[in-house]
Amino acid sequence: MLNILVLGSGGREHALSWKISQSSIHRKLYIAPGNPGTAQHGENVNISINDFKKIKDFIINNDIDICVVGPEAPLVNGIHDYLKNDKRLDKLTVIGPKKEGAQLEGSKDFSKKFMKRHGIPTARYKSFTASELNDGFKYLEKTEPPYVLKADGLAGGKGVLIINDLQEAKDELKSMLKDAKFGDASSRVVVEEFLSGIEVSVFAITDGKNFKILPEAKDYKRIGEGDTGLNTGGMGAVSPVPFANELFMEKVKDRIIKPTVRGLYDENIAYQGFIFFGLISVKGDPYVIEYNVRMGDPETEVVMLRLKSDLLDLFDGIASNTLSEKDIVLDPRSAATIMMVSGGYPESFQKSKEIKGIDKVKDSIVFHAGTKVNKTLQTNGGRVLAVSAYGKDPLDAVKRALSDVKKISYSKMYYRKDIGFDL
Ligand code: AMP
Ligand code: GLY
Repeated sequence: MLNILVLGSGGREHALSWKISQSSIHRKLYIAPGNPGTAQHGENVNISINDFKKIKDFIINNDIDICVVGPEAPLVNGIHDYLKNDKRLDKLTVIGPKKEGAQLEGSKDFSKKFMKRHGIPTARYKSFTASELNDGFKYLEKTEPPYVLKADGLAGGKGVLIINDLQEAKDELKSMLKDAKFGDASSRVVVEEFLSGIEVSVFAITDGKNFKILPEAKDYKRIGEGDTGLNTGGMGAVSPVPFANELFMEKVKDRIIKPTVRGLYDENIAYQGFIFFGLISVKGDPYVIEYNVRMGDPETEVVMLRLKSDLLDLFDGIASNTLSEKDIVLDPRSAATIMMVSGGYPESFQKSKEIKGIDKVKDSIVFHAGTKVNKTLQTNGGRVLAVSAYGKDPLDAVKRALSDVKKISYSKMYYRKDIGFDL
């Protein structure tokens, strides 16, 4: 029987907690800091994900066996290393890589070099620092538009620019490198070839040597219907993704997942946890757009619905070196999630609007992304609720989720009605 601590407070962490709480080997589940949704499945503890010292003390005092790190920032900042450097935590298993492995997400330059070393298909690129600005201009002049500029470091999902005009691309490159447009994150910029195709998110769980592939998902990142307008954290997701058929997934496994895990192993980069492959299919061939070192949000909300296997048993497989013996069993149904957001998101929006009607939802699972209790349940973020449903196919699942979305209300709510429109 295992004691678990989940770090984070979004829809992803609610979905992980929902799944972990169903495990036959879970004793106690804590979430730091959690949200009113996670509180339905475990005990929220009021500790920030950035307060490594308090997290460590909590783990020691509460006999935690497994710490699941939800978001990327603590991983990139070395929480795994920090915890495991303490001898009292010898038996702790952290789900999420150490600082070195977390560079797959924390540095685009690192991940591009890694892919190059291991022959993993990705867009051609060059990277530049401020002193190499003129080389960057020359590289842009030789490249066909659209131009893809990526801040090297973490920029909260905002560090990628796709630009059609050469002069504008040069100006942006300059502002990233010389005027710190994305702060430290853009002190180095990756300029890469534009790939045209359809995107899909693929997830694996690994102990650093073996891996298991989880259900794939497609997320819808733009705020507006028809994939228009500003980028968000994600407005909805579906799983499975029809074009990611058996043939495509075989290519993903052989060309991308295997060489990635093997590459980490060969380079002595111990890696435990999830790898999120942000892929693009170019005429049926998968290319890596980005790695993330955690699960996606809102992808987790559909992946957890489709995963029948005991998630904690998979984590335990990492802890006890038996991951290779575990089976991934999937629910035959499809899943969809619709993200209900605050009007104005991803720009400025208001919080503290009372949320009504969740009790009327019978068929969907309502994961909390940004809520709080202040006498009543209220909105507390841009993304508020991820209404998630099963269906006989992805679009049927979307339809069922949408019919439950309509039972929920709060002032200035917004959601996309066209999730899955392109399938
Ligand atoms: P990222 O933050 O790396 O996921 O990039 C954000 C989005 O930009 C991706 O989801 C893609 O839609 C797009 N993108 C990134 N790199 C490329 C590329 N090389 N070619 C085409 N689109 C890209
Ligand atoms: N939904 C995309 C992400 O979690 O990065």
